[in-house]
Amino acid sequence: MRMVRTVQIGRQPTYQESAAAAIFSPHANCMSDSKPKFLEVYSVLKSELLDDPAFEFTDNSRQWVERMLDYTVPGGKLNRGLSVIDSYRLLKDGKELSDDELFLACALGWCIEWFQAYFLVLDDITDGSQTRRGQPCWYRLPQVGLIAVNDGLILRNQIFRVLKMHFRGKPYYLDLLDLFNEVEFQTASGQMIDLITTLQGEKDLSKYSLPVHRRIVQYKTAYYSFYLPVACALLMAGENLDNHTDVKNVLVEMGTYFQVQDDFLDCFGDPEVIGKVGTDIEDFKCSWLVVKALERANEEQKKLLYENYGKTDPACVSKVKELYQTLDIQGAFTEYESKSYEKITKQIEGHPSKAVRAVLKSFLAKIYKRQK
Ligand code: IPE
Ligand code: MN
Ligand code: MN
Repeated sequence: MRMVRTVQIGRQPTYQESAAAAIFSPHANCMSDSKPKFLEVYSVLKSELLDDPAFEFTDNSRQWVERMLDYTVPGGKLNRGLSVIDSYRLLKDGKELSDDELFLACALGWCIEWFQAYFLVLDDITDGSQTRRGQPCWYRLPQVGLIAVNDGLILRNQIFRVLKMHFRGKPYYLDLLDLFNEVEFQTASGQMIDLITTLQGEKDLSKYSLPVHRRIVQYKTAYYSFYLPVACALLMAGENLDNHTDVKNVLVEMGTYFQVQDDFLDCFGDPEVIGKVGTDIEDFKCSWLVVKALERANEEQKKLLYENYGKTDPACVSKVKELYQTLDIQGAFTEYESKSYEKITKQIEGHPSKAVRAVLKSFLAKIYKRQK
């Protein structure tokens, strides 16, 4: 069992507080102010799911699901979900959306947030994490434990309940189902390679390299976090995804950059701000930081890494962090960050469609130099 690391995390607004703010917001249908409307739609979808006629809920089971949803789904930054709405607006050239369109874009956004909740609930178990979004991980609650595995499955299924409920009659329904299935396969495969590279007994840092890292993060993070929201918006706008592989390529690049930031914040971020305590060093993860450290280390420093990386002992973790300081991994990250930003910006500028350029630029602006 891993050592328990405790941390005081700043209090985030509760869901009820955010929802209350939502109800009193007058401009739900303009750019960058989609959040209040988005939170309203969460309540609608939740109520529908808690009254799903395909299952005879008892008071107990309904309460369990409601608590699980409120705990695991709406408490993040909501960037992925909100991006569906923002992207769809831009694809519609800023034209005012009908109430119906706005609701559907929000519902798709929530499907992505559900998808993320499903993967995070399971990811926290496999990574042995303590905290997420400023509170204990769902599986850490005494009454929950490994029931969380099944809750992950419920979250996963609810995506398809929502899609069926609201998109069954749409011409792009099949494409949506296919998209979510493809991206789920990619994400689960990414998680698999993330996990099997850290296997006990085969702990060998020499197999870690930038291409190995890139492959992991492309699959585990980039497709669902970056391609999926824009692909949802494109489908709603009547586009054929086969015509947008260039968009996919830029978004995968952005997603890779985003996961490098996540790796950096795992070690150097403020747990109060990111809402979670890092576990990458203890977990022997193929993090961007360790790959860079291996690149920069001399023989003696490599030896220190080999001896201390992947251990739960806080003294070992400290030694690894000290070495990161000595090797100026923070400097390497800053350099990577500006190079990557430049590269992605160039890629975006090469895109022929003004609306697509706007979608990609707004996405990049949301994550550049993020602290959480
Ligand atoms: C997991 O990556 C990505 C998915 C949930 C698919 P990480 O393991 O780095 O995510 P965090 O740091 O725990 O959020
Ligand atoms: Mn994790
Ligand atoms: Mn991480």
